[in-house]
Amino acid sequence: MKSLYAQIVVTFIAAIVIGLVITFSISGRLHALQVAEKLETQMVNIGKEFIELYKKEPDTDADLYLDAMSSGSFEVLLFKDDAEESLYYEEGQDWDIDQADVERVLNGDVHNEYLLPPRINIGLPFEKDGSSYALFLRPDFEFFFEGFRQIVLILFLTVLLIGSFVFILSTRWIVRPIKAMTETAGELAKGNFDVQVETKRKDELGSLAHSFNQMAHGLGELDGMRQQFVSNVSHEIQSPLTSIQGFARALKDGVVTDEENRQAYYDIIEKESRRLSTLSQNLLKLATLDSDHPPYEPSSYKLDEQLRRVLAHMQPQWADKKINIDADLEGCSLYGDADQLEQVWVNILSNAIRHTQTEGTIAVRLKADEDGAEVTIIDDGEGMRPEDQQRIFERFYKADKSRTRKQGGSGLGLSIAEKIVQLHDGAIHVTSRPGEGAAFTVHLPRR
Ligand SMILES: Nc1ncnc2c1ncn2[C@@H]1O[C@H](COP(=O)(O)OP(=O)(O)OP(=O)(O)O)[C@@H](O)[C@H]1O
Ligand SMILES: [Mg+2]
Repeated sequence: MKSLYAQIVVTFIAAIVIGLVITFSISGRLHALQVAEKLETQMVNIGKEFIELYKKEPDTDADLYLDAMSSGSFEVLLFKDDAEESLYYEEGQDWDIDQADVERVLNGDVHNEYLLPPRINIGLPFEKDGSSYALFLRPDFEFFFEGFRQIVLILFLTVLLIGSFVFILSTRWIVRPIKAMTETAGELAKGNFDVQVETKRKDELGSLAHSFNQMAHGLGELDGMRQQFVSNVSHEIQSPLTSIQGFARALKDGVVTDEENRQAYYDIIEKESRRLSTLSQNLLKLATLDSDHPPYEPSSYKLDEQLRRVLAHMQPQWADKKINIDADLEGCSLYGDADQLEQVWVNILSNAIRHTQTEGTIAVRLKADEDGAEVTIIDDGEGMRPEDQQRIFERFYKADKSRTRKQGGSGLGLSIAEKIVQLHDGAIHVTSRPGEGAAFTVHLPRR
């Protein structure tokens, strides 16, 4: 069976049929037992009345009387002590009485027998003209049950018909959101993320549809981000390539004649290719940090020593701008991935150096307590606007595009730093004001 709709309907109809059959067979039995109890007294009375009459009437009239009695709702059987066969017997009746029971009644016992399916045999003894007789009576259950069966059948069909009709309609209502979701899923598979399942329902299917809509929305956003990412990457690759091509062509065509200009062109080509290489390294770094199992090789090491080493390595850059470094580093051990955290300090410091004027100051502070370590890198450079502060950790975000472009940034440094800090369960913040410098704080919890 293919559709859920058909499965539910068929299951329901099967359930009604089974339920009704069981209910009616049980109620039929109960009804029969009740009828049987009432009939027992009635049969005994009728039997006694017959016996009275039969004793008074001549033998010939007895058959007639028994005929009249058994033609209605009772079946009758009469035995006499000296006769082999029964004295009265009607064709078509199917009595299954033990000879021993007949003997017992002929000897004066009252016989009373309940049988299954509901059936009662009553045997009454009497004497006439010195002979013993046994009169057996039995109600014709078919006669008593005919009406009951009809009512049951009508009930059965009514319940089945109305139930099925109502259920077929309600199942349509139940299955509708599932159908809608199937169609929407098809649209999602085709790449159309601008779809929603319409439903006002508050039940489980309603919340499923709601989650489904959220998923579609999330997928749409993800797809938008993917497209944005691809376009950013292409843009970042395209601009250095264009300048490399332009300068290489100029050199090849012999446009530049003097040696000094030629050297400047070579420098640009070299710088732009280095920029491309850094970009691809950063992209690779982000991809590994984004993976389900980002690289993380922690060890216990001295954080203050690491910061001093980074500052020493970067001396050519800050010394070039005559920047004054003011380092105040508390001795502190940290458990973390040293290589990755080094990248964090390099990224923040290179930004600080880049955005600080000649002869400016960069302060590096390290404080440690039982919670963890806090590194603050403060510069007195150009600072940034509040709206930029909120976005600088986004990939490819650059506050001042033209300036950063000249200085060679691609807007990935801080997003990489943030990822690494998060990998260490830490946090990174910035406070800044335009023209008054910026302060980056990294908090790393003790583990
Ligand atoms: N110390 C700072 N002072 C002022 N602006 C800053 C500072 N640090 C970062 N920014 C702003 O934040 C932006 C994002 O910084 P991020 O390090 O992510 O990228 P980038 O430096 O432009 O490029 P990359 O680091 O990939 O070379 C920068 O473009 C800059 O505008
Ligand atoms: Mg940077």
